[in-house]
Amino acid sequence: ERRLTVQDLLRQHAAGERLPMVTCYDYTSARIVDRTSIPMVLVGDSLGMVVHGHDSTLPVMLDDMVRHTQMVVRGCDRPLVVSDLPFLTYADDATALHSAGRLMAEGGCGSVKLEGGRAVAPVVRRLVETGIPVMGHLGLTPQSVHQLGLRVQGKDAARAAELVRDALALQDAGAWAVVLELVPAPLAAAITERLDIPTIGIGAGPGCDGEVQVWHDVLGLYDEHVPRHTRRYATLADTAAEALERLATDVRSREFPTAAQSSTMPDDVLAEALR
Ligand code: KIV
Ligand code: NA
Repeated sequence: ERRLTVQDLLRQHAAGERLPMVTCYDYTSARIVDRTSIPMVLVGDSLGMVVHGHDSTLPVMLDDMVRHTQMVVRGCDRPLVVSDLPFLTYADDATALHSAGRLMAEGGCGSVKLEGGRAVAPVVRRLVETGIPVMGHLGLTPQSVHQLGLRVQGKDAARAAELVRDALALQDAGAWAVVLELVPAPLAAAITERLDIPTIGIGAGPGCDGEVQVWHDVLGLYDEHVPRHTRRYATLADTAAEALERLATDVRSREFPTAAQSSTMPDDVLAEALR
């Protein structure tokens, strides 16, 4: 079975299918996604927080994204892999081409994603002309945390109008899809209606064409802060902590390991060795 492409996802969208997406950061996780019907994964720069322990996405380097993209591509055969261009790696055309080129050629992804609207439209156009599929990202754009904070975006008419113009500019520049993060549901639905390309929501209500969620949020792996926009489909951190505590108890009580987890040797061979 071959890997899905942007064209496959666009065909699914045209056929009226909704597009589920989850972030994925490593080989073992990608193997799990490959057991599901999820058609695309995002190697998000959110890995700066949930994998590397930073408090924003700003410290994520292009080398990090290339490395994690490689792990994910090795782990799954079927889903389209989309990789984030990190902070300041697409500030001008030449830098963007170099960065996106590395994510595709070295990392092996099938699309890149970048944040911003009209301001990045020329860069999007340049990438697309060069053969690099681009997913946009509007609303709460975490690389602008120092400018926007972490609030819902587009609650007032002026900002909402800006987001509509940004979405149209991205589509016009050739983006094949756009993430809408933390925008009011009615605005996300209105943008979805005005665009031909699919919108992928996160904290943007049920009116988008797809939904992206962070691995650690939906699997209950990261419980320092559970965003309101998520839903926990598992509590893997609890499961893992309980399992590890049982391991610790069994080691202390000599319940583990037992003969079943080890190998033996003939008594006379040992006796000869110890003579
Ligand atoms: O980095 C990320 O995980 C993202 C999604 C939240 C859209 O950009
Ligand atoms: Na991101």
